[in-house]
Amino acid sequence: MREKSIVRATGLTKVYGSGHTAVRAVDNVSLDVREGELVLIMGPSGSGKTTLLSMLGGLLRPTSGHIFINGVEITTLSEARLPDIRAREIGFIFQAFNLLSSLTAEENILFPAGLVPGGDRRARQRASELLDRLALSPRRRHLPRDLSGGEKQRVAIARALINSPRLILADEPTGNLDSKTGHEVMMILHDIARDEGRTVIIVTHDPRLEDVADRILWLEDGKIRDRKEDAHLWAQDPVCRMKVDQWTASLFATYQGVRYFFCSQRCLDKFRREPQAYLVATAKPQGSEHTSGHS
Ligand SMILES: Nc1ncnc2c1ncn2[C@@H]1O[C@H](COP(=O)(O)OP(=O)(O)O)[C@@H](O)[C@H]1O
Ligand SMILES: [Mg+2]
Repeated sequence: MREKSIVRATGLTKVYGSGHTAVRAVDNVSLDVREGELVLIMGPSGSGKTTLLSMLGGLLRPTSGHIFINGVEITTLSEARLPDIRAREIGFIFQAFNLLSSLTAEENILFPAGLVPGGDRRARQRASELLDRLALSPRRRHLPRDLSGGEKQRVAIARALINSPRLILADEPTGNLDSKTGHEVMMILHDIARDEGRTVIIVTHDPRLEDVADRILWLEDGKIRDRKEDAHLWAQDPVCRMKVDQWTASLFATYQGVRYFFCSQRCLDKFRREPQAYLVATAKPQGSEHTSGHS
């Protein structure tokens, strides 16, 4: 049963723009993710994680390459047929929750059911079950503005599950949550793969799931890389001079075409105010023209 391929991509490439300003955000990526697998996508900021996930979820057209969701090639589907496949087969969870602000928690959860013909019938029952399971029942009639961050993300997870899709894609789902709440959200996603056999792909900087994931795909400059256990890709925070691991760093800024990584928001803010003050001694890229790092 677990041999069944839920997401298959071959030669996936996305180029933004053209000519001198072209950015090859995803570069010839191939992957095969099976039923019930829990896969993490990790990599430095700007490495192409969101672009890759958006293409896998049918939200963004690739420049070239092919994507099959549960055996159906979505890259050749017309714009008219794509929404139906997306609504049935794929649940998407975003860092910023993306709830509709004028709908209650329950209405948000039910929303995708309205996009599937005949999806309404069992949806109310299923929404109730999901509200229960995600400990949201007392909040069902609340608007998003009256929910905590963790509750909003649980609503977004329930919304992603309402049509029982086989594939759940989450783009930095804990990025706006505190550490404890983020961990709870990660464990819910983990259980969705383990208990329900759904395929779950999570883009994250959070290393706590590394040990329970089936696989980690490391992205660097749009390519999937082998990364040895405990390998680091060190960059130097230009402000405090501390070493920062580019694989897991979430704070960065690009200045004059060079990417700099930061240990904290404080250092990033200082740099933004006065980049020149910090660059004199640190800008010595070794082995890479694109970052301030050295490995
Ligand atoms: N809509 C866009 N137009 C042009 N360039 C983009 C766009 N979206 C992302 N990029 C560029 O593509 C690269 C990968 O971005 P992204 O997929 O957002 O990376 P990540 O999610 O790993 O931070 C970056 O260099 C980014 O600046
Ligand atoms: Mg991203």
